[in-house]
Amino acid sequence: MTMQDTTATLLDIRPLAQGYQVLTFQAPEIAAIAQPGQFVHVQIPTLEASRLRRPFSIYDADPATGKLYVLYKVVGFGTQRLAALPVGSQLQILGPIGRPFPLNPTGTPYLVGGGYGVAPLWFLATRLPRKGILFVGGRTAADILETERFVQLGWDVRIATQDGSAGEQGLVTLPLDAALEQNPDAELYACGPDGMLRAVGERAMAKNIKGWLSLDKHMVCGVGACLACVQKIRKEDDGSEVLARVCVDGPVFESREIVW
Ligand SMILES: Cc1cc2nc3c(=O)[nH]c(=O)nc-3n(C[C@H](O)[C@H](O)[C@H](O)COP(=O)(O)OP(=O)(O)OC[C@H]3O[C@@H](n4cnc5c(N)ncnc54)[C@H](O)[C@@H]3O)c2cc1C
Ligand code: FES
Repeated sequence: MTMQDTTATLLDIRPLAQGYQVLTFQAPEIAAIAQPGQFVHVQIPTLEASRLRRPFSIYDADPATGKLYVLYKVVGFGTQRLAALPVGSQLQILGPIGRPFPLNPTGTPYLVGGGYGVAPLWFLATRLPRKGILFVGGRTAADILETERFVQLGWDVRIATQDGSAGEQGLVTLPLDAALEQNPDAELYACGPDGMLRAVGERAMAKNIKGWLSLDKHMVCGVGACLACVQKIRKEDDGSEVLARVCVDGPVFESREIVW
């Protein structure tokens, strides 16, 4: 199935902690074919000064109702404009785009996320054939989002914050390392800042298990044409290093592919 360029209606805005929101769109063409790990490229109306689209992971998609969900944080000009849109607004949305997470883990799925990185992990948790553990980290309690939904779905949730305001004090790798020690028969899936992805990838390689990392690169076209989003990767067959476009060759890569 190919990506769609569609006019979506903003149906609902649900504020979360500090600057985070969940948006619900009516976008049946995209919701019908979206897979966990893919993203949408959103044209934000009223953004005359900067008409570039903004990429957001698909937080959830319901083919039955045609609803598409995005969880995002206000960080700059575009997301401020997005946050000011009223319900009923119409937006051009391109998607779904990119290589999704694989859905056939050989071991217990360990999902590792931080901040809005939890968005694709929720969609993934709803589609994986088995339940596992969500490890979620952040600077403070306000960065720990939507964990009760994972618990309701039957997932174990382990939290770490750098200031100790929720869960253990420290990095998310603290509870992850403890769980890997107890049960190394896992498959890792991660979305978050580069430092976290790199740490998860190192653990996947050290334990000789798979680690699927969703990269977050600045994007311009979102469809593979401009090369704004390139990442050096190592080809599996001959080990040669090439540049991959994160928008269409990713955003999900296996940890062994990435040349940091
Ligand atoms: C594949 C992919 C999936 C994403 N999924 C989500 C998501 O689910 N929820 C969400 O909130 N955000 C997500 N992002 C990041 C989001 O696209 C940016 O936060 C957004 O484009 C910023 O737009 P802006 O105009 O508000 O910020 P700008 O005014 O353009 O920039 C404001 C600040 O944000 C930084 N920034 C801009 N783009 C990115 C980026 N891609 N990554 C990190 N920092 C950035 C800038 O360096 C600057 O410091 C994703 C990015 C990618 C590539
Ligand atoms: S954003 Fe243009 S090639 Fe990826």
